[in-house]
Amino acid sequence: MLYQIYPRSFADSNTDGIGDLRGIIDRIDYLEWLGIDAIWLSPITVSPNADWGYDVADFYAVQPDLGTFTDFDELVADAHQRGIRVLLDFVPNHTSDQHPWFIDARSSKTSQFRDWYVWADPSTDGSPPNNWVSSFGGPAWTLDSKTSQYYLHNHLSEQPDLNWWNGDLRDAFDDILVFWFDRGVDGFRIDVCNVIIKDAELRDNPPATADDPLDIQLFGQRPVYNANRPEVHDVLRRWRRIADSYDPPRLLLGETPVDDFTDLAEFYGADLDELQLAFNFPFINATFDAVAMPKIVEQVETFLPPGAWPAWTGSNHDMSRFATRWAHDDPRQARAALIMLLGLRGTPVLYQGDEIGLGDTPLEQKDLRDPLGVRFFPAYAGRDAMRTPMPWRDGPGGGFTDPAVRPWLPLGDTECNVESQLADPTSMLILARDLISLRKRTPDLNIGSYAALPAPEGVWAWRRGDRHAVIINCSERDASVDGLSGCVRVGTDRARDGEAFDGALQLRSREGLVAEIQP
Ligand code: GLC
Ligand code: CA
Repeated sequence: MLYQIYPRSFADSNTDGIGDLRGIIDRIDYLEWLGIDAIWLSPITVSPNADWGYDVADFYAVQPDLGTFTDFDELVADAHQRGIRVLLDFVPNHTSDQHPWFIDARSSKTSQFRDWYVWADPSTDGSPPNNWVSSFGGPAWTLDSKTSQYYLHNHLSEQPDLNWWNGDLRDAFDDILVFWFDRGVDGFRIDVCNVIIKDAELRDNPPATADDPLDIQLFGQRPVYNANRPEVHDVLRRWRRIADSYDPPRLLLGETPVDDFTDLAEFYGADLDELQLAFNFPFINATFDAVAMPKIVEQVETFLPPGAWPAWTGSNHDMSRFATRWAHDDPRQARAALIMLLGLRGTPVLYQGDEIGLGDTPLEQKDLRDPLGVRFFPAYAGRDAMRTPMPWRDGPGGGFTDPAVRPWLPLGDTECNVESQLADPTSMLILARDLISLRKRTPDLNIGSYAALPAPEGVWAWRRGDRHAVIINCSERDASVDGLSGCVRVGTDRARDGEAFDGALQLRSREGLVAEIQP
């Protein structure tokens, strides 16, 4: 059970309107109470914030807005004392254009770090070296006037891509891993794992076709040569060897945005010698219904190598939150989705706020901070709606910061908040806590196998291990699942906890539950 924290928006301890490490320390009791096993912090290293931390200017220092090494060490110690492990974000694909490596690299064609980035001469007509587009829009190349070559950036031009064919660069990143592991970090979430190696010959990407997924069609090309290269697996095996050299081994969790399940499976390594966990993007992108979701889970069960362990997430700092995207802000459906996430075989990853059913916070154009929203509004409002501060209690400041302070992103409506849900035994927060606890003490739910169960249209039901089942009514209609006998352990309707059923289970619309069943 992992929990993603977006540090700028979690809790602000010194009332400057920006969440910080000390804010996380202050809330560590809450995380312990919730029962999570590990936190993953979005980047905490030095960054000019062109992409809010995902443009790193120093891999060895804490961003001053967020705190100091003293705070960091205290956070790790406090978390460990409570049995909570700490994962950081590792951003190896690119650096900030303010990183000393890039400042040196762009200074001359013969500078020490020139080859640590991807440079190429213009085409004969002066245009970029090839047709690659950035996943943030526009060409993936920017001409650097000083040396008259283009440099590659698969994201913003302030995020030059590193050249992972360079051996010294590989060594430098080994050192970064070792530095943080030695400091007590239990693992890393690895940013855009599938992108880091590019085609050595910089070949043009082929055009998209009508058969491609919509996002590929929008880009107009298939990311065959600027991403998803097979050589990335050598790098992942190398990192895994470092992670495994520690006792206990450190965890590598990859951001692996691939559409194909055989590609996803490869990130675990044929010999399970790459990532221990890989995020499943088809799942995040699926609609919450009893056809699309089970199909994805079956594919994962089919394609992941034996012994590989899936990861399931419904929200993160880049995607619309699941309470909005899957549940359309219907609180019943958000609860059902929570039961689904916590009921699957694999590691659930909650994003801060998921546990209270927090939805996206729509923002006005003037409040946008994400470069994508700034660039594409109103066609796309960017990712700020899922990055707004955590509402700890109702009212101005929301318990995130001082009521008189203007937070770095507006809070939105604080009616959905931790404090009021803590006081309500029927709330989503208490449901989350109870489910996490049930999962921990029930081996079937923790490590048991997954097997689909027969269910009427609109209902998704599966068995976990020998004696447990998860049943979700994704539809608007009430339903009856026949052939089941047992007892409700935890359900979206808390009044049903402990209820026995014999031969059939009745479900209201959008109801979900975990039950102990007769085998
Ligand atoms: C990942 C991060 C995202 C960032 C991008 C570029 O997708 O999750 O927030 O913008 O990488 O680093
Ligand atoms: Ca602060």
